[in-house]
Amino acid sequence: MSSTINNSSIVKIFDTTLRDGEQSPGASMNVEEKLEVTRQLLRLGVDVIEAGFPVSSPGDFESVARIGEEVGDRAVVCALTRAVAKDIDVAADALKTATHPRIHTGIGVSPNHLQDKLGISEDEAIEKAVAAVKHAKSYVTDVEFYAEDAGRADPKFLYRMLEAVIKAGATVVNIPDTTGYAVPEIFGKLIRGITENVPGIENVTISVHCHNDLGMATANAMAGVANGARQVECTINGIGERAGNTALEEVVMALKSRADLYELDTNINTKELMRSSRMVSQITGMNVQPNKAIVGANAFAHSSGIHQDGVLKERTTYEIIDPADVGAAESSIILTARSGRHALRHRLDLLGYTLNDEEFERVHKDFLDLADQKKEVYDEDLESLVSEADRTSRAAFTLERLQVSCGVPAIPTATVELHFRDGNILIDSCHGNGPVDAIYRAINRIMQIDNDLIEFSVQANTRGIDALGEVTIRIKDPAGKVFTGRGAHPDIVTASARAYTNALNKLIVSEGKEVPSMEGGRV
Ligand code: KIV
Ligand code: ZN
Repeated sequence: MSSTINNSSIVKIFDTTLRDGEQSPGASMNVEEKLEVTRQLLRLGVDVIEAGFPVSSPGDFESVARIGEEVGDRAVVCALTRAVAKDIDVAADALKTATHPRIHTGIGVSPNHLQDKLGISEDEAIEKAVAAVKHAKSYVTDVEFYAEDAGRADPKFLYRMLEAVIKAGATVVNIPDTTGYAVPEIFGKLIRGITENVPGIENVTISVHCHNDLGMATANAMAGVANGARQVECTINGIGERAGNTALEEVVMALKSRADLYELDTNINTKELMRSSRMVSQITGMNVQPNKAIVGANAFAHSSGIHQDGVLKERTTYEIIDPADVGAAESSIILTARSGRHALRHRLDLLGYTLNDEEFERVHKDFLDLADQKKEVYDEDLESLVSEADRTSRAAFTLERLQVSCGVPAIPTATVELHFRDGNILIDSCHGNGPVDAIYRAINRIMQIDNDLIEFSVQANTRGIDALGEVTIRIKDPAGKVFTGRGAHPDIVTASARAYTNALNKLIVSEGKEVPSMEGGRV
C-alpha cells in the first residue's frame, strides 16, 4: 500500500525538557524553575511543550496547570498519561488552563513490554490503547498516541496498533525508540514502513522520540524526518532518562545547516539556543560537556594553528555554523562598576529576565559586588547572578555570613551564619579535612539533615581568571533521592557553600522537613 504522507516543509519541535528531561537523575525542577524554562522555550519558539505527567505527583499536576496559564496561545501544552482512565482524567483537569491542550497517552508495544511489563496480548494492548485515545478525545481534540518501545516492536503489530488508534481519533502518532536500541537505517525504514502500511496515516502527524543509549538519538530522529516524520521530540542539551533524548539544538541546526538535503525548516529562533542551553544547565545542575555539538564551550573554539589560520582567512573553512546563528557570538561587554541601575535593568530585559523589584534588588547588590571585583561584567555573569538570586529568594534558609581559615599547617575551620524565613539566625563552627568539608560540617551541625555528598564539580562561567566559579553538587538522602545544588561566586569556597545551601533547600521543600528553630533567635 502506498499513501501520501504529511509532507509539510515544517518539522514541529516538541520539547520534553520539562517531562522526559526532568527524569534525568538529580535534574528535578520546582514549579518556579519550570516556569522560567517555559518562558525561555517560548522565546525559542517551540511548537509543543510537554509540561509533565500530572497523575505522578501534585507537583507535576501544578506545573502542568501553571505552564498552561503561562503559555496561553503561544504553543501547545501537552501532558503525559499511561493508557489508564484515571491518568487521563487527571491530565485533562491539569490542562484546563491551556489554550491549546494535548493529551499524550500510550502503551508498550514491544514483546518485552507486552510480556514482561504489562502481561497482556497484542489484541488486549490494542483494546486498551483505543479506549485510552477515545477517553482522551472526550476531553480534548488534540490527542497524541505513543507506542512505547516501538524501536523493538514487531512492525506488523505496530502498523495494526497505529491504524486502530488513528481510527479512534489520535491526531499525532509518536514512535519512540524508548531504549535507544535503533540505528538510523533501521529506524528510518520503520518510519517509512509506517507511512506505507498504516491506513489513515496521511491524516495525522508522525512524531519521533529517540533515546541516546547508543549515542544515536539525533541520527535516528533525522532518519525519521527523512522518511516522513514531521514532529521531533527532544530536550535542551539532550537531557533525559539514562543517556538522554535527542538534543533539540542538534536537530534544529542539522535541519537548518543541511536545508540543501532535507528542504525542511522549523519555527525555532536559533539565536536563543545558547541561552536555552545555559539556562537549563544552570537550573538542573547538569553541566554541558565542552565538546557538546552546537552549545558546548568548545563548539566554536579552534585550537590548532592551521585551523586558526584558516578561520581567520575565511570563517567557513573550518566552521559550518556561524556562532552568531546560535547566540554564541562573543558576549558584548556592556556593564562595569559605573553602570547604573537603569543600564542593568535594560540589559536584564534584553536577556529576557523579568524580575520583580525584590529580585532586581538582590541581583543589583550582587552585581555591584561583582563589578567591584571584575572590570567587566558579561552576560554569562548576569545569568549566573539571576539564577543565584532566584535560588536565594525561594530558600527556607540562606547563608548570610561565612568565615573560613585554612592552609598549611592550619586546621581548616569554618563558621557559618544561617538566616531562616521565620527570622531566626543560627551560627555554628566546625573543622574539617578541607575548607569545603569544614563548611558542610558546620551547616550540618545546624541543619541536622542526614545526607551524603555524591558529586562535586566546579567550573568557570566565562574565560579569564576573574570568572565566576559555578559549583554543582549532588546530595543523596537516606532513601536514595538525589538533589542538585548550584552556587555561583567569584570565590569558589563561597560558591561551594551556596551550592550546599541550595541542595539542602531543595531537600527541605521536597520532603517537607522542619527547619531548626531556636526560641529567641540568635545562637
Ligand atoms: O521514551 C518513551 O517511550 C517515552 C514515552 C512516554 C513517550 O518517554
Ligand atoms: Zn522518553
